Amino acid sequence: MPIQNLQGQGPIGDYYILTEQNRIKDAALPEYDPLADLYDLEYVHDHDVPFWLTLAERKRGPIVEWGAGTGRLAVPLAEAGFDVTGVELSERMIERGCKKSEAVEWVQGDMRSARLRKRYALAICAFNSFLCLLSAEDAMDFLRNAREHLETGGMLGIEVSAFSPEELVDPPSDPEPQHDLTRELQDGRLERFSISRYDAASQLLAMRLFYELGGTSGAPGEQRAHDLTIRITGRDELVPMLRLAGFEVEVVYGGFEGEPFTADSDHLIVLARNGQVVS
Ligand SMILES: C[S@@+](CC[C@H](N)C(=O)[O-])C[C@H]1O[C@@H](n2cnc3c(N)ncnc32)[C@H](O)[C@@H]1O
Repeated sequence: MPIQNLQGQGPIGDYYILTEQNRIKDAALPEYDPLADLYDLEYVHDHDVPFWLTLAERKRGPIVEWGAGTGRLAVPLAEAGFDVTGVELSERMIERGCKKSEAVEWVQGDMRSARLRKRYALAICAFNSFLCLLSAEDAMDFLRNAREHLETGGMLGIEVSAFSPEELVDPPSDPEPQHDLTRELQDGRLERFSISRYDAASQLLAMRLFYELGGTSGAPGEQRAHDLTIRITGRDELVPMLRLAGFEVEVVYGGFEGEPFTADSDHLIVLARNGQVVS
């Protein structure tokens, strides 16, 4: 399918850039571009796919995934026969997605402002794409835009990680990197370490990710570092935001089996309906 590029149409260049002190909203910075070649090596899980497939079967209509990455969810949904549009900021992530499958219609754009040509029965914003919105204002811009793209009765599903208080700390000035993951690859191994800093005032969790890609030959591996920032959002912020954006909140889950959301939940999933009549 062709990729639509919304760059140049309206406020699409209105992204965040990282400064010494904080982030300002004035320039395009698709943070995932330099991470695109590692994304599918790092994130190999698919335990969330059945949840979204079940919802897609229930809604029976076109689906949009906002912040679709390399199509980890969009591709299996499209290959199951659903009409799926993936909206993604990073061109490199889209390139990866296109290589995996031609079944997804890709749109390169910003989920806060992208204007698509149709309305959807189901919108998905999963695996922390919502947390990439770095202020409450940006989150509201996205929620309003997402609602404008839904049919009457259409559903928005948002899934984010639920962080424990222990994970949201500002460590001492010279912290040791923590080991996040090891992936055995066909021709080597990927290791990821990270240092995270949390600013409770802004709710921003700034992560410096260190990657080591080692070959099997024993030759020294490649080392890379990338910065990623997310804005932590909990249930009692997300639910009122959805209502403020005009949604009716249908249900809150704490996991992909429909578990109740508790203090021990690893995930926060909120399903909300666009109850307004679409003119
Ligand atoms: C953690 S990844 C999740 C990708 C995918 N949803 C998945 O489940 O694998 C977050 C994605 O959101 C994208 N993203 C961040 N901010 C965005 C924005 N304002 N508009 C569109 N995509 C955005 C990033 O480029 C990245 O690919």
